[in-house]
Amino acid sequence: MALFRCAVSTALSVAVSIAIPLALALAAVAYVGALLEIVEQLGGPPSHVYTTSQGSTQAGLQLGAAVLGLDIDVVGINPMTPANEAYMPATAIHALMAEGARILGYEDVILGPVTNLVDYVGPAYGLASDGSREAIRLAARTEGLLVDPVYSGKGLAGLIDHIRSGRLGAGDEVVFVHTGGLPALFADVGGVR
Ligand SMILES: Cc1ncc(COP(=O)(O)O)c(C=O)c1O
Repeated sequence: MALFRCAVSTALSVAVSIAIPLALALAAVAYVGALLEIVEQLGGPPSHVYTTSQGSTQAGLQLGAAVLGLDIDVVGINPMTPANEAYMPATAIHALMAEGARILGYEDVILGPVTNLVDYVGPAYGLASDGSREAIRLAARTEGLLVDPVYSGKGLAGLIDHIRSGRLGAGDEVVFVHTGGLPALFADVGGVR
């Protein structure tokens, strides 16, 4: 794992000033490192990783699992729908994974299908949803954890729904990757009590 981590940091250090879409691929490469850390800290792979992503975060986490040969179900909750111009379909996320693999010298790695869901956007990208507001309240009250109404709150809303609907069970070991976004929490301050 140490050698692989070295490859990740080298790839990041040689390409600081490169623009999109390579920037997106490098963001994915950074999240390969995050997946390594998750597995190291847990002492093994979780069954699932959930996160809010329209591309890079999910691509990197899933690429990390593929490179390590780990059977981890990576589920991305997209904060936008195909109606948004920045939306990336699953094929584009897959291409992002392939580009990250190429940068890291793992172009032969087998990349599985992408699960990226648009079911938790609510009224629109950038606006709070009932689910994200509920997730904000639940995480704050039970864990002292702050998520926001636009990104991390929507990812957590998707995770909560998958638990309630039975898509995730008691035997699953799930990691939620919190991607930040906290300033939006203060913009929506009237919406959450
Ligand atoms: C707070 C936050 N979370 C998640 C994301 C999703 O990032 P990506 O689509 O690159 O995975 C963004 C993107 O702007 C973000 O600002």
